[in-house]
Amino acid sequence: MEKMLREMRERVMQNIKEARATANLEQIRVAALGKKGELTALLRGMGKLPPEERPKMGQLVNDVRAALETELEKRAAELAEKEKAARLAAETIDVTLPGPERSAGSLHPMNIALRKMVDIFVGMGYEEVVGPEVEYDHYNFELLNVPKNHPARDAQDTFYVEDNIVLRSQTSPVQARIMTTRKPPIRIISPGRVYRADEADATHSPVFHQMEGLVIDENITMGDLKGTLDEFARQMYGEGIQTRFRPSFFPFTEPSAEVDLTCANCKGAGCRMCKGTGWIEVLGAGMVNPRVLEMCGIDSHKYSGFAFGMGVERIALLKYNIPNLRYLYENDLRFLTQYR
Ligand code: DAH
Repeated sequence: MEKMLREMRERVMQNIKEARATANLEQIRVAALGKKGELTALLRGMGKLPPEERPKMGQLVNDVRAALETELEKRAAELAEKEKAARLAAETIDVTLPGPERSAGSLHPMNIALRKMVDIFVGMGYEEVVGPEVEYDHYNFELLNVPKNHPARDAQDTFYVEDNIVLRSQTSPVQARIMTTRKPPIRIISPGRVYRADEADATHSPVFHQMEGLVIDENITMGDLKGTLDEFARQMYGEGIQTRFRPSFFPFTEPSAEVDLTCANCKGAGCRMCKGTGWIEVLGAGMVNPRVLEMCGIDSHKYSGFAFGMGVERIALLKYNIPNLRYLYENDLRFLTQYR
């Protein structure tokens, strides 16, 4: 029995030394020292020994058990250390590698143009104000001299929310809001979204942007309007860009004009963008109709004023030579990131 014990001790010691992983070690322990293990089996054989040999043999079994346990612990510590080192090596991060690229955002070309428009007018002493997109019929039409059943209501295919509430079809209602709540002198601009039931095509969209302008004071004339828009054109597009006033009609201005700018693409020579005319229409304007002044509570004998409403998309297309409104709405990054 002693021989068997020594043989077992040597064999298990060797197995422990050769164990490659913590999991193997556990198998070895169970097989050698477990309840149903080899040592337990040997111990059972002790009953057949003569009584005087039993203490000595018992001592030997305990020694073997203690020696194997010590060795198992030692090897377990070694393996744990090794496994940890291997795990750390596998998880190593090379902090010198370049990180994933994050591209910087950029402003939408229409917003770049709009910011410039606002800047130019703020530079001339205008205040920027905002009005609601869901608007009372009263401000969008009534106070602007467009009574119910007036044919001008058909010219702008308006989205109705309720009988007397619309999605504003123009930024002009902000004029009415300002005139009914402030005293002259008034000098404001108001950019924002407007809505019309139009089919989307190269030059139309059911949602687009306008920037309204309004100046009311004593002795304001059409000359002030023209000088202001000339200066705007010069700052927006540079020297050599001119304005052209064409007589027109708006219910809230008298006289009224549609204003063209020299086509920035061909400098007036005529090209596809301006359909060969050398001009591009960008805004409506005029002297505020005295009826509108009176309806809004401003003395039309003392005060006069001008107003204008610009198409922001138009101004941006012209600024960047963009041939089709759709480029502004499709959000194709290959297009948008050209404008930073
Ligand atoms: N609201 C007009 C439109 O949407 C543009 C306009 C014309 C605005 C004349 C004005 C103005 O302020 O005086 O077509």
